[in-house]
This record gives sequence, structure tokens and C-alpha cells, in this order.
Amino acid sequence: MREVRVELGPRSYSALVDKGLLKRLGELVGSWCPDLNPRKVMVVTQPPIEEAGWLAETKGGLEGLKAEIHVARIEDGERAKSLETLQGLCRELAKVGLERTDAVVALGGGVVTDLVGFAASVYLRGIALLNVPTTLLSQVDAALGGKTGVDLPEGKNLVGSFWQPRLVICDTSTLASLPGRELLSGRGELAKYAFLGAGKILQLELEDQVAAALEVKARYVSTDEREDTGARMALNYGHTVGHAVEAASLARSGTHPLSHGESVAIGIVAAARIAERMGRIDSQRVAEHLELISGLGLPTMLPSWADPQELMAYIARDKKNRAGLTFVLDGPGGVEPVFKVDPRLVTDVLEEMKESVS
Ligand SMILES: NC(=O)c1ccc[n+]([C@@H]2O[C@H](COP(=O)([O-])OP(=O)(O)OC[C@H]3O[C@@H](n4cnc5c(N)ncnc54)[C@H](O)[C@@H]3O)[C@@H](O)[C@H]2O)c1
Repeated sequence: MREVRVELGPRSYSALVDKGLLKRLGELVGSWCPDLNPRKVMVVTQPPIEEAGWLAETKGGLEGLKAEIHVARIEDGERAKSLETLQGLCRELAKVGLERTDAVVALGGGVVTDLVGFAASVYLRGIALLNVPTTLLSQVDAALGGKTGVDLPEGKNLVGSFWQPRLVICDTSTLASLPGRELLSGRGELAKYAFLGAGKILQLELEDQVAAALEVKARYVSTDEREDTGARMALNYGHTVGHAVEAASLARSGTHPLSHGESVAIGIVAAARIAERMGRIDSQRVAEHLELISGLGLPTMLPSWADPQELMAYIARDKKNRAGLTFVLDGPGGVEPVFKVDPRLVTDVLEEMKESVS
């Protein structure tokens, strides 16, 4: 079993990575959180995870805790990250009578860990959260770091909190039932870590890949938990253009939207091309980006429907912007936030990245 530590003083915690950890949940919680002795535990999950058998395994694994186990189910998909679902979940916690010393378990992908993390932070002004991520994306990213939240019709993740879990348990066996497209989406997020100090990550076996990604994330979270210094922003590598492409894709009706990871993959290539035009990296480094992304089976070009002007409108609203466009870019000192990037240069790169219609 691999262990990754997030150092945050009294709120420090571990992420554990291995196959078959669901069966040992009670024992692991007992060993890593000895002060946590819940009388009641609420496991929150979604239908596909239950249908794959992971809820039953989780309940079995939690038996060792000798607590009453309850289950709450939320609807599947990004739509579940809403204030309505949050209210429904908090009401279920109240009906079951969860107290301050009890715990909630988020069993699922990033949608579940984001929503349940937020509920754990506000219910009774905060109760213990145990994250049990079941998608590659949530294992390498969403379940660790304490960012929780829900979406508003006005935008993604606009309401939320920083609330660290007490323990993150990544059982890689759960990825066996993950649809291929979700696995690919997780790889997009994994790819960014190759440029954030985990160069050989893709050559490792799965458990080591997850642990290596979490090591990088834990370092940034430990130094800049609430994105006060800007250091944590580096974790957004590829996300400026990535979020714009994802939003534009979702806004188009009647098409199969690009996944988060596919969009991030395109965003990573765009970031490399922007960095090259700014003289921060050379063409060889851009080629390394292209090779890595295409080697994962992820896109390196914008789809033919993409409109650079529309993407620029989304980029102009990016949360990282400070008096001009902010990008996270590679350079001689590594990946870092770069402020006041010339919008014309970005537009030129997006034009250059448009797939020609055959
Ligand atoms: N808080 C953070 O730091 C952070 C970081 C990155 C992403 N996110 C958030 O994560 C969300 C995306 O997460 P995601 O990609 O995990 O998507 P997701 O949670 O929607 O899961 C994708 C699909 O896979 C299903 N699924 C999950 N585990 C499964 C399994 N083991 N077997 C079969 N099916 C399974 C889910 O039910 C869902 O249908 C977004 O809302 C994003 O904003 C948060």
C-alpha cells in the first residue's frame, strides 16, 4: 500500500492507494483516524457505483467500525452538484440524526466528493469526511486537497468551501468497472502531472501513477492550501483553454460533449504552444507535450466546430485572471502562473490548433 501525506498542521491527513482497500475500510479508518469513533456513518453514492458492487463492498468493509451504517443515493452526473441536491443530502443527514462526532463517506467520482465534501463542511458546521474516490480523475485529483462545492446555473463550482477530508482511500480495483471514456478523461488530468515534476509518471504501474500524482498535488496543497500565494494555481495546468473548450462543448446541443480530461489535454497543448510563442520553451518541449498527450489517446487539436472567438470569451471570464489574462505556463523555472498574457497571441494559437474539416 502507498501512503501520501498532506501536511497541514493539525489538519494533516493521508491518502492510501492500493487494490482491495474497500474491504478494509473499517480497519484503515481505525488505524489512520484513531480519534474518530463515529456512532453513525452515512455513505453517499450514485447508482452506477452501487450497480458495480462497490457500495456493498464498502458497507462490508465498514463493519469493522462498529457504527450504524446508512446510505444516501444522489442522482448521477454533474447535475447532482447543485444546491438542491445539497439540501436534500443535508436533510437526510439530519433525519438519520448524524452528530458532530459522526462521519460521512463520499463513495464515487469527483461529483460525489465535491458535493459530499461541501455537505460535510456545512452540516452542523462541519463533520468528518472520508473520501473514497472511484474514478481515475477523482483518485489522482478531486478527492485530495479540500476544494468542495456545487455549481450554479451561472457557472461551475461557484459555491463551495475548503474542507479537508480526514482520510482518502483510493482502491484502484474500483477502476475496473469504469467506462473507457471516463478512464480516458482521468488520463487527461494525469497527463498534467508529467509536467509538474512527475516526469516518468506514465511509465509506472497504476497504483504508483495514482500515488505519484497525489504526491505532486499534496506538495502544492501543503504549501498553498487556499490558493493565497498562487503556488497552487500550477495545478490548473491546461485548464484555462481546457475549461473554455469544455464549456463551449457543453453549450453545443446535439453533440457528444468533450470530457473534462479530453478538454484539459487540448488545454495542455495550447498552453505549450502559448509558452513557445512567448519564448518560455522551445519547439522540442512542445513536441514532448504533443507526444505525451497523443500517446495517451487524447486529442491535441481543437475540434473543427470550435470558434476561437467564443473560446476567448470564456477565457476572459477565467477565475485566475488578474487585470488581464492569466495562464499557467511551462518555462525555464517549471510550470507557473503567468499574468497579462497577450490575448492576440492566444487567439493566434487557437486558430492554429483548429482541426481542418476533411
Ligand atoms: N475538488 C477538486 O479539486 C476537483 C478537481 C478536479 C475535478 N473536480 C470535479 O470532479 C467532477 C468530475 O469528476 P469525475 O470525472 O470523477 O466524474 P463523475 O463523478 O461524474 O463520474 C463519472 C461517471 O462515472 C461513474 N462512476 C464513478 N465511479 C465508477 C466506477 N468505479 N465504476 C463505474 N462507474 C463509475 C459515475 O457514476 C459517473 O457516471 C467535476 O465536477 C469537477 O469539477 C474537482
